[in-house]
Amino acid sequence: MTPDVSIVGLGRVGLPLALSFADRGLNVLGVDNDADRLATVGEGRMPFEETGADELLARVHASGRLELSDRVPDAARAESIVLTLGTPSFSHIEIDMRDIRSVLDDLLPVLRPGHSIVLRSTIAPGTTEFVAGYLERRRDLKAGEDVFVAHAPERIAAGRFLEEIGTLPCIVGGVGEASTERAAALFEVFGAPIQRTTPVQAELAKIWTNILRYATFALPNLLMMDCEQYGANVFEVIDLINRDYPRGGIALPGLTAGTCLRKDFAFSEERSHAPGMLLAVSRVNESVPLFLVEGMKRRLGNLRGRKVAVLGLAFKRDTDDERDSLAHKLVRLLERELADVVPHDPHVETVTASFDEAIADADAVVVATNHSEFSGPGVLNVIRDSSAAECLIVDPWNAFGAGQVFAYVAELVALSAS
Ligand SMILES: NC(=O)c1ccc[n+]([C@@H]2O[C@H](COP(=O)([O-])OP(=O)(O)OC[C@H]3O[C@@H](n4cnc5c(N)ncnc54)[C@H](O)[C@@H]3O)[C@@H](O)[C@H]2O)c1
Repeated sequence: MTPDVSIVGLGRVGLPLALSFADRGLNVLGVDNDADRLATVGEGRMPFEETGADELLARVHASGRLELSDRVPDAARAESIVLTLGTPSFSHIEIDMRDIRSVLDDLLPVLRPGHSIVLRSTIAPGTTEFVAGYLERRRDLKAGEDVFVAHAPERIAAGRFLEEIGTLPCIVGGVGEASTERAAALFEVFGAPIQRTTPVQAELAKIWTNILRYATFALPNLLMMDCEQYGANVFEVIDLINRDYPRGGIALPGLTAGTCLRKDFAFSEERSHAPGMLLAVSRVNESVPLFLVEGMKRRLGNLRGRKVAVLGLAFKRDTDDERDSLAHKLVRLLERELADVVPHDPHVETVTASFDEAIADADAVVVATNHSEFSGPGVLNVIRDSSAAECLIVDPWNAFGAGQVFAYVAELVALSAS
């Protein structure tokens, strides 16, 4: 088959996108250099959780519209090439573009006039123009005339891909109008509104979508720490702020990180006019695990040899994605206190104890990820029946609904029953 579109990078963004294009009737070539990943997908199995994707993969598999390759140059068999590679940040506050550079170098010899390259990854401002300039310098292909280069950032949240691909406005910023139109024509197949703009505006819109979320959650996290200092209850203060107040509200606290939120602010911070502002936001979110450990020590004393159950290792609710999860940081900090840490997570690839094993005789139980499985007062009753009598519950998400970040289990059961 001649593919209509190639997707380079079959990760959490690329694979659902490849499957969705195939499901809309396009012939798709999926390219990845991870042999295990290709084998898994080739066998019709999803390598990670994504709501509805198992059924979608089975459907696409049966249709024969998804072909796989481990060779980047094969991507040039399709006129449209979408790059969904990882774009981490260096610790030097700088985007790490090594995957993108490497794929561009692989594509250079096989690019032809008429090819369209769409950057779907999150990228620092100026990267789309850099790619256009790179192609012109290395191959004398002018973007917008000979080849087409655009940024169409992915803004869908993990777990919601199939729900949002057809509804979330798709931002498209091309180098020249023709590049924008080529990319728009490709993504129009999903039926979501297309917002046409310039490359740099598309880049900024994506980065700042994530910065907004990162900063939004830093505020209640800072408030949670302030409340501990003043002996106040953060959930009550938030209710006082938000109730019937007509000018917006504050979010709830939690462990805020994940592979995108933790790094994307760095793409703005690279050349910020307010250096430090977003670093401070990052510092607040990154210090929540330490805040929780310090709060436990204030109540339980030395944690050496105490059993601490950590519920959840994923970076957010109902996902198996552990990348840059603060739950792992929490585990590491607890281990540095010589506590006996027993994590449990029903979603992730890391092997963890069962729920029953984790909470049995626990001196403390921390809800690190607010998975659905940990919600509601019923879970609390099970913990009370199995944990140590004076078990400290740490629930920054208010998963149990009792409105306490730190409280002993008996106290919490009484509160949630009232
Ligand atoms: N995960 C999310 O929820 C999400 C949401 C929005 C945007 N993004 C952005 O989308 C981009 C991709 O994120 P992701 O989570 O899918 O990353 P990922 O690490 O899951 O996927 C990247 C894939 O590219 C492959 N790859 C890397 N180098 C390659 C090469 N040289 N040749 C072929 N394949 C190669 C990897 O094997 C991997 O499968 C990032 O820029 C990220 O910031 C991610």
